[in-house]
Amino acid sequence: MSDTIPLTDLDAPAGEENAEQLELASIHDFATKLVQPGSKEALEHYVRWQVALRNAEDADATELDPDKVPDFAPISINLDLTTACNYACDHCVDLDILNTGIRFDHDKLRSLVSDKTKLFYMNTPQNPTGGVLTIEDLEFIAELARKHNFYVMSDEIYNRFVYEGKHASILHVPEFLDQTIMLDGHSKTYAMTGWRLGFSISSEEMAKHLTLLMTNSTSCTAAFTQVAGEEALLGEQQGAEEIIQRFKERRSVIVDGLNSIPGVSCRMPTGAFYAFPNVKEYTEKQGRTSQELQRWLLHEHGIACLAGTCFGPNGEGYLRFSYANSTENINRALERLREAFAQLA
Ligand SMILES: Cc1ncc(COP(=O)(O)O)c(C=O)c1O
Repeated sequence: MSDTIPLTDLDAPAGEENAEQLELASIHDFATKLVQPGSKEALEHYVRWQVALRNAEDADATELDPDKVPDFAPISINLDLTTACNYACDHCVDLDILNTGIRFDHDKLRSLVSDKTKLFYMNTPQNPTGGVLTIEDLEFIAELARKHNFYVMSDEIYNRFVYEGKHASILHVPEFLDQTIMLDGHSKTYAMTGWRLGFSISSEEMAKHLTLLMTNSTSCTAAFTQVAGEEALLGEQQGAEEIIQRFKERRSVIVDGLNSIPGVSCRMPTGAFYAFPNVKEYTEKQGRTSQELQRWLLHEHGIACLAGTCFGPNGEGYLRFSYANSTENINRALERLREAFAQLA
């Protein structure tokens, strides 16, 4: 079994069950699908490729210079409230999307990117906000990317979890594959997180770089997990569809429940499976951080959630709740949360 599977190979054995996935796949017959141990792998490989390029540009460099390795922390996959990553100047800019309806302000992004920008990393549908970008957003990003010659890495692992309308993929932007790395995987749709299986779709040229770096680090995904992954992707989709439908119901339960708790306000997410309520009444206003609140909820009330700041500094004053759990447990958590916040009020 090879590491790279041309997308055209996907078309042949699949039934109609996975038509949407195939529609996406067939858009770029010449795109290359690199199978990796998890979708996040490609980000690391891309960064390493950039580091290698920068070192190669330095006439004196005979080996990779550790001082030139960009700080990985700001581009951690779970951080981004949509992030423009300016590797060339070793920093990363957060677009504060929470004030702009969970998408992003086009003018703000335009003002942030420059010829130094090497990569725009984005995630749609998004963890943690549940925001979903539109095709217009993606076309705008592509226009900037063409102008400034940077890559767009689009993490679309939640692409099946869209509750209103349809998922818009960066692969839907015409003539843009050469600057695209699209990430997807089995961790969400098929709940195969522990199998460590994901893939990236890019041009053949980019896939060559990513493959070289992967072959010399993780080597490849285990053959038997690839077999299971192929079956998941191309086989019967009913199970996945049912899960998604159930998540849609749980979304209303958790968001309505959160909004009924005094001092908590939560937007209805349109994708992924997270609720991201504003809890500033209990943080900022009471001199407490989101992380302190997160710990207190876990240790004193047995409620597992994440501080908004786990996703970057703009997340202060927010908590993230996953609704990948039973309705019964979600209701129990809401009850406990109501009691916990009543103690703070
Ligand atoms: C934005 C995002 N990308 C990717 C993943 C999953 O990554 P992997 O495919 O490596 O399991 C997650 C899971 O938490 C995620 O939130």
